[in-house]
Amino acid sequence: MNALDDVLMQMSLEEKVSFCSGKDFWTLQGLERLGLPSIMVTDGPHGVRKQSASTDHLGINESIPATCFPTASLLASTWNPELLFKMGEALALECHKLNVGVLLGPGVNLKRSPLCGRNFEYFSEDPFITSKLASALVKGIQSKGIGTSLKHFAANNQEFRRMITDVIVDERTLRELYLMCFEEVVKSAQPMTLMSAYNRLNGTYCSENQWLLTRVLREEWGFNGVVLTDWGATNDRVKGLIAGEDIEMPGITKENNQKVYEAILNNHLDISILDQSIKRQLEVSEKIQRALNERNDFDPLAHHELAKEIASEGIVLLKNEEQVLPVEIGEKIAILGLMAKEPKYQGSGSSFMNPTKLDNFYDAMVSCYEHEGYSANWIDYAPAYNGHLDMIDINHVLEIARRVHKVILCIGLPEVYESEGFDRERLELPEVFNTLVVRIQKVNPSIIVVLSNGSPVHMPWVSKVPGIIEGYLYGQAGASALAEIVCGLKSPSGCLAETFPLDLEASKYFPGGDTQVVYKEGLYVGYRFYDSFNREVLFPFGHGLTYSSFQIEPLRISNLDAWSYDVAFRVKNLGNYRSKVILQLYVSPKEMRMYHPKQALKAFKKVDLGPNEALDVVLNLDKRAFAYYDVVSKDWEVESGSYEIRVGFSSRNIIQTTLLEIEGTQVPSLTETQLEVQNYYKNITKDHLEIEDTIFEKLLGRSIVHEKNKAFDLNTPIYEMRHTVIGKILYYIVSKETRKMSSKQKNAGMKKMIESVLSEITLRNMAMMSSGAVTFKMAEGFLEMANGHYIKGIKTIIKRTQ
Ligand code: BGC
Repeated sequence: MNALDDVLMQMSLEEKVSFCSGKDFWTLQGLERLGLPSIMVTDGPHGVRKQSASTDHLGINESIPATCFPTASLLASTWNPELLFKMGEALALECHKLNVGVLLGPGVNLKRSPLCGRNFEYFSEDPFITSKLASALVKGIQSKGIGTSLKHFAANNQEFRRMITDVIVDERTLRELYLMCFEEVVKSAQPMTLMSAYNRLNGTYCSENQWLLTRVLREEWGFNGVVLTDWGATNDRVKGLIAGEDIEMPGITKENNQKVYEAILNNHLDISILDQSIKRQLEVSEKIQRALNERNDFDPLAHHELAKEIASEGIVLLKNEEQVLPVEIGEKIAILGLMAKEPKYQGSGSSFMNPTKLDNFYDAMVSCYEHEGYSANWIDYAPAYNGHLDMIDINHVLEIARRVHKVILCIGLPEVYESEGFDRERLELPEVFNTLVVRIQKVNPSIIVVLSNGSPVHMPWVSKVPGIIEGYLYGQAGASALAEIVCGLKSPSGCLAETFPLDLEASKYFPGGDTQVVYKEGLYVGYRFYDSFNREVLFPFGHGLTYSSFQIEPLRISNLDAWSYDVAFRVKNLGNYRSKVILQLYVSPKEMRMYHPKQALKAFKKVDLGPNEALDVVLNLDKRAFAYYDVVSKDWEVESGSYEIRVGFSSRNIIQTTLLEIEGTQVPSLTETQLEVQNYYKNITKDHLEIEDTIFEKLLGRSIVHEKNKAFDLNTPIYEMRHTVIGKILYYIVSKETRKMSSKQKNAGMKKMIESVLSEITLRNMAMMSSGAVTFKMAEGFLEMANGHYIKGIKTIIKRTQ
C-alpha cells in the first residue's frame, strides 16, 4: 500500500465526497485533519488575477496587482516559444508570491471565426502554432512547480450560448483542428490540470463526456492530471465523475456532492472511481504545495520589462509604404486618439486584471524623444474622441494634423465590441474611428494607424494609409514597446497568427442556432479556407513586416529515418536593420484521395539577424506533418504521393518550394459514400461555402438531430421561459439582479458582458451559482411549473425544502 492509499484509508466517505467539488470559489478541497493542503486557483491566463475581496469569476471585482502580460493574440504573433517559456516562469513566480497554486490557463481554443468575443484570449486559427506556443507557456509555468489549467476542453469556440450549445463536428475535423490544440500540450507539457468546457460536444456536455475526458485525454494522450469543470459547467455530477471529471468548480453549492454521496450508497457509483480521482488530486496538490513552500518572490520591474519584450516581439507591422515608419526622432509628429493616453491593453471578462504599472504610448514617445534631447513640444496630442466614442474637437485635430510631418492615430476595439460573454456581430471598427482615419488622412497623408484590439477588424481605408501597426492587446508595458518600434529603436518582428479577412464567408456556420452549432465547414477554417479557394484577404495568416528584408535560399531535404525529414535552407538579412524574422513552413498535399486544405503550417522558427548576416536554418517534419486522422482506422494515416514543402514569410508569401514523394501508411479503403463526401469537399466552389445537410451528415456518419419544440429543461435559458407565468417572474428577478450588478460597473464592456451572460442563464446555472438562494430542488420545482405543472412544481418545492 502506498502513502496515498494510506491517506484514503483514513478518510470518511463524507470527506472523500467533499473532494468532488472545490472548497470555495477559488480553492480546491484539502483536509486539514490529515495535513492535506487546499490549493488556490485563479485566472489566468495572461496575468495572476487574485481577488482581494469578494468572489466572482467574471472579472467584476478588483484583483491584487500583478503583471499584465499581453493577451494570447499577441503572444501568438511572437511565434517565439522561448519567450513564452520565460513568461511562464515569470507568471509562476508571481503565483508563488501570491500563494496561488494553479493558474487557470492557457486557453487554447481554436479561432474558428474572427467573431468569437473571446478570441483575444486564444492563440490562433491554426492548431500547430497554438499547441507549440501553449506548450512552452505551460512548461514555463510548471517549471517552477505551479500548475496550469489548459482550457476550455473542447470545441468551445464561441460565446453565444456557450453554457448549453451543442457543437456538432465530424471526428476528423475535431481531431485535426480542435483537439490538436490540446493534444500536443498534454503530451509534451503535461499540464497539472485541465478545464472542461461549458458546451456540449456531439450531444454530450464536455463535463460528462467520457469519450473526451477518459478515452481521448487519459487513455490516448496519457494525461495524468486533474480535470476541473469550467465555473458552473457541471450538468450531471455523477455522470461527470464516471466520465473522468474530477472536480466541480466553483463548488459553492454542495448539492451535487450530496448526489454523489447518495449514488455511492445506492451502488450507482463505484467508490473506486472517487478514490482514483482523489489520488490524482492529492498528487497534484502535494506537488504544488511543495513548490509554494519555497516562497519565491518576484521583481515587478523585471517582469514589466519582460512584458515589454514580449509585446515588442508580437506587435505586427501590417503596412509600411513610403517608409513612413520608423519615425525619425526629432520629426514633428502628432499623436491622436484617446487610446494613446488611456491604452486598451487587455480584454474584458474573467482574465481582466489589475496591472502593477501601466505605460501609455504618448508618454513613451515623449521619453524616446527626450532621450535624444528633443522636448515634448515636438509631439502634439489631441484625444480626437472620448470614452463614449464621440468625435471631439475635430477642427482642432485637423489643425494639428496639418502642421506636423506625421500623424499617429491610435484607435481600436472598445470593450463593448469584444469581450468574454458575447460574440462580435461584425468586423467593423466603431464608425467614428473609420471617419477619423479618412478625415485626418485627407489633411496629412503621412498617417500611421495603430490598432489596439484582440481580433481582426476591417480597414476600409487600408489603401489610403501608408502605415498600419497591429498592437493587439499588448499588456501593461506594450505602449513602451510600441514607441520603440515606432521610433525605430527596434525592428518589429511579429506575424499574424490569424487571417484578417475581407469577408465572413468562412464564418457562415458561426455561431449556429439557439441550441446547436454545426461545424459544416469541416477543415476549412481560417487560412485553410481562404488559401484553398484563393480568396482575397486583407492581411493573410503569417503576415508581418520588419524594417529589413530577407532572402531565403533553395531548400535541401534530408530523410533522417522513417518519418523524419530535415528541411534546410539559408536565410539572409539584406537590409541595414538588425531584426528577427519568422520562417514558416507549410505542407501542401497534391492530389490525394482525402480532401485537404491547400496547405497547413507544419514548422516555424524565429531567428535574429544583423545587417547582411546569414544563417542556416533547419526545420524538422515528422509523421504528423503529412498525416490526416482516419475515422475508420481511428489513427493518423499518411497517403502516399507528393507533398509540396513551401517555405516563406506568410501563407501568401511563399519564397521557396520543393516536392517530396512520400510512401504513406496502409490507409483503409473508402466506401462509395465516403468517396462522394471527399469529392464534395474537394470541389466546393470558390465563391461559397454552402454545404448541404445530407453531405455533412455523411461526413459526420450520422444524422444531425435538430432539437425542436421540446419541453423546457434545466438547461433552457430563463429568457426562453419568459412567456410562462413562472418564467416571467424568474426573468424579472434575473433582470433586476442584472441591472443591479451592471449598474455598479464603470467598465462598459463588463456591463455588456454581465447583461449577455445573464440573458443566457439557465435554471441549472442559477442553482449552481446563486450560493444557495436557488437550490437544485427549487430549480426542479420551477421547471415543473414552466412546463405547465404548477401544482406538481409547488409540491416539489415544498417537499424538497422541508
Ligand atoms: C471562464 C474561465 C475562467 C473561469 C473562472 C469562466 O467563466 O470561462 O475561463 O477560468 O470562469 O473565472
